[in-house]
Amino acid sequence: MTDNAGALFAGANALIFGGAKGIGKAVAQEWARRGARLAVADIAEDAAQETADEIVAAGGIAVALSANVMQDESVAAAASRAEAELGEIDIVMNNVGGMLNGHPEDIPMSEWQRIMDLNYFAAVRGVQHFLPKFLARGSGHIVNTASFAGLYPYAASRVPYAAAKAAVIAMTQNLAIYLEPQGIRVSCLIPGPVATSVMDSMTSWTEDCPMRGPGAETRLLLPQELATKLADGMEAGGILIPSDDVAFDIVKRWAASPDAFIRAKIAEFESGDRGNPEVPEEILKMMAPSS
Ligand SMILES: NC(=O)c1ccc[n+]([C@@H]2O[C@H](COP(=O)([O-])OP(=O)(O)OC[C@H]3O[C@@H](n4cnc5c(N)ncnc54)[C@H](O)[C@@H]3O)[C@@H](O)[C@H]2O)c1
Repeated sequence: MTDNAGALFAGANALIFGGAKGIGKAVAQEWARRGARLAVADIAEDAAQETADEIVAAGGIAVALSANVMQDESVAAAASRAEAELGEIDIVMNNVGGMLNGHPEDIPMSEWQRIMDLNYFAAVRGVQHFLPKFLARGSGHIVNTASFAGLYPYAASRVPYAAAKAAVIAMTQNLAIYLEPQGIRVSCLIPGPVATSVMDSMTSWTEDCPMRGPGAETRLLLPQELATKLADGMEAGGILIPSDDVAFDIVKRWAASPDAFIRAKIAEFESGDRGNPEVPEEILKMMAPSS
């Protein structure tokens, strides 16, 4: 537990890149419920406005900002606007990410680079913008969103994404070593499967390349469940915050024998097991077409 446990969000100014939809939206709503004032920055301006309006309607404080995390100037401009609207930013979350699907030989170099830019360098942009300010103040909290795909091997149907998310995890935990002694908190949200529309914007580079999931021992979560898990984890002083602790059990199995783990994944897939997560009844009902 850290000194500020319990008081992390009350009165804090938080900026979320990619806060308009899905996980980012649920996190914005949860942090606002816990007393934070929100800047919701997103390329989808209407959705960002909708999220901010919903927070305000629920009694919170929120502004919507336009931002494209692929561009340094856009990140800097959104950060300046957030500061102008709310004051000094205490928590910045680099949450934008995007998926793809396909065999590695079918994915052009430009797409490998785009996926790295969207999932990794976008987070670096947010970090680079706020680091000098946080260091000068000796406070602040950086949150980067990774994925189970970057934590252990299974996501062979989207290798560039897995590599980019592994880079996010490596960056974030090393930043924690450097920054915690200087008063700055660092957390890495590591979601497993979450029911959002992330697949809608996914490019497929290979026809019939089956998606590979994180394993039958994992479970599909609602974004709100993940947002609660993240906020609780941050308040408890968490650095690596997985959506489900099963992720660390899986990593223990991988660490016991990485080669055996990888070969077991190959065998699983060959037997027809695509590693799909368990889908709870509640989510199945929500996804079912209404008759
Ligand atoms: N949903 C999952 O199962 C899952 C699992 C593991 C990790 N993640 C990660 O969680 C994060 C959020 O994903 P999600 O599932 O909520 O997806 P989502 O597609 O619902 O939300 C992504 C948000 O980012 C915004 N965005 C996209 N490109 C942008 C850009 N260039 N500049 C600014 N904003 C941009 C979108 O408009 C959207 O609001 C991502 O980093 C994703 O990789 C998701």
